[in-house]
Amino acid sequence: MKSKLYTEEELIEILKDKYNDCKEYNIEATDEEINERFNHSIGVKNACLKINEFFNLGLDKDILINMGLLHDYSKFLTIDDYKKLLEIYPNATDENYLTYSSKVHHALLGDLALKHELGINDPIILNAIKYHSTGNKNLDIYSEVLMLADYTEETREGDSFKNARSVLYESNDPINIKKALCYILSSKIKHIKARGFSLVNETYYAYLEYKPYLDNPLDRCKQILRAIDHNLVKDICIYDVHDRSPLYDYVIVSTAVSNKSKDAVISYLRAEFDLRSVEEGEFWTLVDLNDCILHVFSNDARSEYNIDRILSEARKINIE
Ligand SMILES: [Fe+2]
Ligand SMILES: [Fe+2]
Repeated sequence: MKSKLYTEEELIEILKDKYNDCKEYNIEATDEEINERFNHSIGVKNACLKINEFFNLGLDKDILINMGLLHDYSKFLTIDDYKKLLEIYPNATDENYLTYSSKVHHALLGDLALKHELGINDPIILNAIKYHSTGNKNLDIYSEVLMLADYTEETREGDSFKNARSVLYESNDPINIKKALCYILSSKIKHIKARGFSLVNETYYAYLEYKPYLDNPLDRCKQILRAIDHNLVKDICIYDVHDRSPLYDYVIVSTAVSNKSKDAVISYLRAEFDLRSVEEGEFWTLVDLNDCILHVFSNDARSEYNIDRILSEARKINIE
């Protein structure tokens, strides 16, 4: 049987109708949320096409358009709606789904709504939509693209989304697809844990699958630099010390703009990384990030201790 695919125009109409239904029936969805959701869906469709082109993946554009526009179709379903779907498809998910964050229900059960309400039966689209939020250790390329597009589309604001975009579009080497997925999964895991929700096992297994791609000191050094707001520190120098130090691969030296900005840098880093230790002094703070170490000096202390001179024989590296 030929898979049911819609044209872009039909899909826009489907989404508009769906979101109008929400306005009528779902008192929890405000107009603003519905507009945001609509724009996000357009953004994800555009991002799917952009990733396909940027990495020259040669994927089917109609599939990308359908999965991008429909990926959050079930976003505004209620728990009762999900229960009804599970009565129709009783083996569709595991029995723990109600313990997961409600944010993942629309994905884990989203394929059922698309099958039931729109007659979508393309396994590539259904699989990509089912796992676009949680991930899965066996993601195919379409599922990878959808998960990336969902996180990196242009209407998403916030450091974590911006950082994921930087990792993904660093160059058109397809390895950046894997690196960005690792970054996204690790951010999701931190976010879920911080809020006390159960982690869907698939997310953790997916993270382990992608972890080796972003598990080298230079990538971590780049992530650290992205996590630091460059308005808070200045004169950042990065030294490659892997052949000089048994403990670290990179030393990052910076000068805090003020005492408050030093505190802000450390809290940014705590939110993103597991810090091995933080030694806070009045004028000099040392943050141990396993294979990278970050020095944050006050203006005077940087020239007084002159650590840059001590490191002057190490290779200085430039990271954009
Ligand atoms: Fe979603
Ligand atoms: Fe989404």
